[in-house]
Amino acid sequence: MESSMKPLTSDIGLYFKSFKLFLERSTEHQCMEKFIDENLPDVVTSIGKKGAPCLNVLGVGSGSGEVDIKILGIIQSKHPGLPIHNEVVEPNLHQITKYKDLVAEKSQGLNISFTWNQMRSEEYEKQNKERKESRKFDFIHMIQMLYYVESVPDTIKYFHSLLETNGKLLIIQSSDDGGWQALWEKAGSRFPTKIDFPGVRKVLDEMRVKYQKYELPSDMDITECFIEGNENGERLLDFLTEVADFMKTAPPDLKAEMLRYLRHPECSREENGKIMFNNDLHFIMVDK
Ligand SMILES: C[S@@+](CC[C@H](N)C(=O)[O-])C[C@H]1O[C@@H](n2cnc3c(N)ncnc32)[C@H](O)[C@@H]1O
Repeated sequence: MESSMKPLTSDIGLYFKSFKLFLERSTEHQCMEKFIDENLPDVVTSIGKKGAPCLNVLGVGSGSGEVDIKILGIIQSKHPGLPIHNEVVEPNLHQITKYKDLVAEKSQGLNISFTWNQMRSEEYEKQNKERKESRKFDFIHMIQMLYYVESVPDTIKYFHSLLETNGKLLIIQSSDDGGWQALWEKAGSRFPTKIDFPGVRKVLDEMRVKYQKYELPSDMDITECFIEGNENGERLLDFLTEVADFMKTAPPDLKAEMLRYLRHPECSREENGKIMFNNDLHFIMVDK
C-alpha cells in the first residue's frame, strides 16, 4: 500500500459526497427497489413469532434510510394491524438526521416506532453484551455496509444470533461476478482499505446456515472518470477505490492502471458512447 493514500472513510464529508454521486450515477437503489417489490413480499410473509404483539426490525448501516423505509412499508403491508418496532444502527449523525426527516415525511399511516443508535455495529454488539440483554429481531438487514466493519465473520455471526424464531437476515452486497470484485482483485492490494468481496458466502457456508441468493443487474455510468480534471469523475474514482482524493494522492502508475482496467470488459461495457460499470448486486436472505 502506498503511504500517501488515505481511506475514503477517513474523510467522512468526502465519503458521503462520493456515495451520493454514486447513487446518482448508478441504478443501485432502483435495483434494490425491484428486489423489495418483487421478492421481499413473499419472504416477509412468514416472519413473526406466533402471538407476538409486534414485529421487531433492525437496520445495520442504514445510511439515510431510503431503502429501509421501503422495506418497512412492505413488511407492514404483509402484516396489517401489527405494529413494527424498528431499530437503527448507523454511526453517522448526518445520515441519521436525514433518515429522521424521511420518516417524518413518509411514515404517515404506518404503525412504526423507532429507536436510533448512533454507533457502529461493533459498539452496538459491545453495549448489548455489557448490558447482558439483547432484543431479538424478526427481520435484520445489512445493506452495502459489511465492507466497513472490523470483522465480516464476527459481524454476520453476531447479528444472525439476534434472529427471533422465523426471523430472516438480509445481506445486500456487490455481486461476486461484477465489476467491483474484478477491480478489487486486480488492484485491491494497493488500496489502503481492505475489502474481501467473496467473504460473505464463505462465512455463511462455514456457519452451515440456510440461505437463498438472488442476483440482479445494475450499472453505474463512469464516463466522467475519463474526463481529465472532472470533479464528478474524481469523486466516483474515490468511491471505486475507497481512497480519499485518489487522483491527487495515488502514484501515477496506479492511476493509469485503474483508468485502463476500468474500461476492461471484466469491469464495464460501452453503450451509446458511455462507459457503464458492472454494479450487479446480490441479495442473500439468511434463515434463522
Ligand atoms: C454504502 S453506505 C450504505 C447505506 C444504506 N444501507 C444504503 O444502501 O443506501 C454504508 C453505511 O454504513 C455505515 N457504516 C460504516 N461502518 C459501519 C459500522 N461498523 N457499523 C454500522 N454502520 C456502518 C456508514 O455510515 C454508511 O451509512
